Amino acid sequence: MAKKPTKTKQAKAKAAAKKPARKVVKLAALKKANGNGLPKPSNKPYGQAGKALTGVQILDFTHVQSGPTCTQLLAWLGADVIKVERPGVGDITRGQLRDVPNADSLYFTMLNHNKRSITIDSKHPQGMRVLNALIRKCDVLVENFAPGALDRMGLTWDYIHKLNPRMIVASVKGFGPGPYEDCKVYENVAQCAGGAASTTGFREGPPLVTGAQIGDSGTGLHLALGIVSALFQRNRTGRGQKVLCAMQDGVLNLARVKLRDQQRIEKGPLTEYSQYGEGVPFGKAVPRAGNDSGGGQPGWIVKCKGWENDPDAYLYFITQAPVWNEICDVIGEPTWKTDPGYATPKARLPKLKAIFARVEQFTMTMTKFEAMDLFNKHDIPCGPILSMKEIAEEQSLRATGTVVEVDHPTRGKYLTVGNPIKLSDSPADVRRSPLLGEHTEEILAKVLGYKASEINEIKASGAITPPKKEEKAA
Ligand code: COA
Repeated sequence: MAKKPTKTKQAKAKAAAKKPARKVVKLAALKKANGNGLPKPSNKPYGQAGKALTGVQILDFTHVQSGPTCTQLLAWLGADVIKVERPGVGDITRGQLRDVPNADSLYFTMLNHNKRSITIDSKHPQGMRVLNALIRKCDVLVENFAPGALDRMGLTWDYIHKLNPRMIVASVKGFGPGPYEDCKVYENVAQCAGGAASTTGFREGPPLVTGAQIGDSGTGLHLALGIVSALFQRNRTGRGQKVLCAMQDGVLNLARVKLRDQQRIEKGPLTEYSQYGEGVPFGKAVPRAGNDSGGGQPGWIVKCKGWENDPDAYLYFITQAPVWNEICDVIGEPTWKTDPGYATPKARLPKLKAIFARVEQFTMTMTKFEAMDLFNKHDIPCGPILSMKEIAEEQSLRATGTVVEVDHPTRGKYLTVGNPIKLSDSPADVRRSPLLGEHTEEILAKVLGYKASEINEIKASGAITPPKKEEKAA
């Protein structure tokens, strides 16, 4: 039987019970003062009231592409991202696909802007002590190691959560729980396992992967949203949580229209696929659809002037139903406006190939930019196929900060893609990626408050510097 509470305990319980009531009164008073209980709107000019994620510290254990994409976005949004790298080695991409000898590769620099780099050997006892201090201090740990690697370091969820119950632990893995959860995964494996490759390419050819890194960068984007949501929820609950994004799931999320079509195919042919118009029967699974549009308005890629020598002299053209009359007038087929064989979207479906051939006959007489100008005047949706060269030279992308020139101490100037997410009160400035271990001492001293003598001791232990052997080999 529970002991009868003493008088003091009773008094304490009474006081505690009263507490929430006092809070409600406070909140009500605040709401009265501010209208909604939130801080009054800042009167600083937009862009000068800090960044969206100012004050958030990220312990960044990511490497290669998926994880770094996520933490780079968080850094652009204002988080202090502390990238932990193995002494003397660093993120493997520093040395991959190098174009300038002995300088960090574009692969690395373009995925690690606005971060600080600290080198720590997580398998060294002194290194683990530093990591523990960082775990206590930071808000989020982000990692994309192979399954089990973080646990093997000793950094299990239970361990981290005990050290810092507020910490959010965010991971990219190739697969979620299930038969493949222990597999290592790279971009194209995810594109294949997420259903994108089987639905990309031409019907007669093999499955194709896309150049856009929907497995790596796409999953990094998903993870960033998960982290920001977990931070938001933590404001209410006071505790961290695990955030997991599997690359297979991320790709499937981006390929969801194809799972839509998988269910439609069971009920009849996919009439908007050009395969239907060509009279080719459908199989049991969603086929590759070439350049068919994935939505309800049929589209295709058509040649433009110069296509014989320029591999990118093409235009994506959409036969959007609301502007069908304008299309007919512009391409010189005014009778198609009223001809029952062409006048309705349904009537056009079996003839799409012939219609696009006619559009192409017309677009081959002009460059893709001339075609774009002309069709836009009539509100006809279309888009030029832009090469990476054209994108690199496009001044409007420079003006918006989507393509940015950055200077780097060892490689010089290079172009990168800036933050594609534009916030009016949190503009992103793109700063170069850190050199390996560039901020090790700064972080030990300023973030963790270590004295110079302690830093020297950690250095001497070999926990933050490369092993002597490697120094000689370098
Ligand atoms: N100090 C000491 N050791 C460190 C370290 C540090 N600072 N940082 C990393 N390591 C160790 C890890 O502990 C791990 O060691 P272990 O295998 O003995 O446990 C080792 O480095 C390698 O990590 P791992 O993630 O297995 O790298 P990998 O090069 O073999 O595999 C991937 C690379 C990308 C295939 C794998 O990390 C993966 O599948 N990640 C998840 C999915 C993903 O993000 N894929 C896309 C990448 S763009």
